Parts: sequence; structure tokens; C-alpha cells
Amino acid sequence: MGPEALKTVLSQLPQPKSRKEVLVGLDIIDDAGVYQINEDQALVQTIDFFTPIVDDGRDFGRIAAANALSDLYAMGAEPITALNVVGFPSQKIPLEILGEILRGGQEKVEEAGAVLIGGHTVDDDEPKYGLSATGLIHPQRIIKKGGARPGDVLVMTKPIGAGILTTGVKGEMVEEKDTQNAVEIMAKLNKAGAKCLNFDVVNAMTDITGFGLMGHLFEMMQASGTGARLKISSNWFIDGSEVLAQKGVVPGGTLRNIKFLENNVNWNNAPRHHKFLLCDAMTSGGLLAAVKPDKVGRVIKELEKDADVPSSIIIGEVISGEPIIEVF
Ligand code: CO
Ligand code: CO
Repeated sequence: MGPEALKTVLSQLPQPKSRKEVLVGLDIIDDAGVYQINEDQALVQTIDFFTPIVDDGRDFGRIAAANALSDLYAMGAEPITALNVVGFPSQKIPLEILGEILRGGQEKVEEAGAVLIGGHTVDDDEPKYGLSATGLIHPQRIIKKGGARPGDVLVMTKPIGAGILTTGVKGEMVEEKDTQNAVEIMAKLNKAGAKCLNFDVVNAMTDITGFGLMGHLFEMMQASGTGARLKISSNWFIDGSEVLAQKGVVPGGTLRNIKFLENNVNWNNAPRHHKFLLCDAMTSGGLLAAVKPDKVGRVIKELEKDADVPSSIIIGEVISGEPIIEVF
């Protein structure tokens, strides 16, 4: 669902009852909810599931689990438990495939250092998989979307364009090596990136998923009361995605994102395919952080040293003013 549609539905609901233990709830747009349980600990909770975006069951499981856990990393939390959320057409698709999906998800939960403690499966026309995941955080170390300050350096930890690439795969327009590369990028946990981009060095953070780099950056700028200036470079894009974008191979969600952001982005002379890539509706993208300017040198070095971080890309800076993103 597009960001606009969801906001409309939520705005029509009565204000949900809250309480003082809720540190991040429905009144703030953020990656996960946070509930304080004592002086030193808060629970961070999130859920995410979707239909397959790749053919292989295990890969789908790995990507869906990495994507769900990502919202915990984006808050600075450490995952502790996870529950499987599953829809499956058991009359149409062999149960072995379900086993593969769950195996892939379990691998990622364990790699995150969390434990799988249950789940729920329903019969469904189309397979769906994801996790409800819980993490722990110190109540004073929550990293929110709001908090970016002018002068902060914007860093992302995975290249973008996975939505365009998986759309190309469905149309059999992508080389096998580019497909495998994109699958591995999506399946990568944001664990290592979050270790480098911790509370001490960042002012704001989120992860890049369905609203694309620009949609999630806009949410961050809106929550922070700042703008941003970006300088596009071709190392931002997953191998093979730029060619597809030039051919106009783009998922519907990406086009919706461009439309939604039309009043908040000054594209200047950006070509059409760059708009597609920057607004690409992704699954399991990287972290997007506003890094304190005096920490950025050390942070980038740490990110680059860590083989589990797909990339560490400085994309621009936070500027003062309206939540407008300038693209050069
Ligand atoms: Co998120
Ligand atoms: Co989410």
C-alpha cells in the first residue's frame, strides 16, 4: 500500500490509548514501537511480511526475515525473539517449499543472535512470509527518525534498485550473476551496519524499504525539521538496475513513490532513470543514517572494514530549512 493511502486510513481511526511506558508509539512515524519495561530496558517490536519476490524458497525466507529484523536495527535495538508469520496455499504448492522458506528465515534469526519461539500459519491463495520480531534497547539509546541536524552526513549501507531488479528478473531481463548479487544484498542483515552506526555517532536513522531511498529520507527530514542535499553517483545502484531503469522497467510502487514526493524533491536536472532508482520501492534495503559530522570519518572506516556491510555510501548532507530534498 502507498504511504498516502495508509496515512488516510490511520487518520480516520480514534486516537489509540497510550501510557507513559510507550516511548515510541503510533503518534510518531518510526521503524518500530518501543515500550519501556524497567529503568535500563525497553522492548522494541515490529512485524513485516510479504509475498515472494524471488523464486527460491530459502532465499525468500532469508530476505523476508532480514527485512523484518531490519526495523529493529534501524532503532539501534538488539533482536532477541522472533515469531514466524506465514500464509501458504498447501493444496497448490508442495509443503517442501514451505520448509525451505522457514529454513531460510530461521537461518537469519539465528545469525541475528535471536531465537525463534513460535509462529502462526494460515491457508492463503498466495504464499506470504515474514516475522514478528522483538528487540531490546536502553531507553536512553533509542535512535529515531527525528533528530537529524544541519551538517550531518547522510550515509547508506546497501546500494539501491532491488525493486527494479526483481521486476526485471520476472521479465527475464537480468543476468544470473546480477540476480544472485541482488539476492545476497537483500538477504544481508543490517546487523553489522547497525553496530557501526550506533547511538553515539548518529543523530537519526531508518532503513530503506517500500518508500524507496527518497521516501524514507523524506520521513527522516520531516521528523527532524530539516532538509537534505544529495549528490547522485553511479555507485549507489545495485549492478544491473541502472540499465533496467533506463529501459523503464519499474515496479508500480516506485512510480507511486515518485508521485507522492513530487512537492518535496527538487530533482533539478536528474534524468528519469535516476528518479526511478532513488524512489525504488525496495525490500530489505540498507540503513540510512544522519551521522554526526565529527564522527563520519571513523564511521566510514569501520563500515568499510566490515565485510558484512554491503557498501558504505555517503549520499549527501542534512541542511536547515523545510523538508525538501535537493538532488544534484
Ligand atoms: Co523501516
Ligand atoms: Co516495517
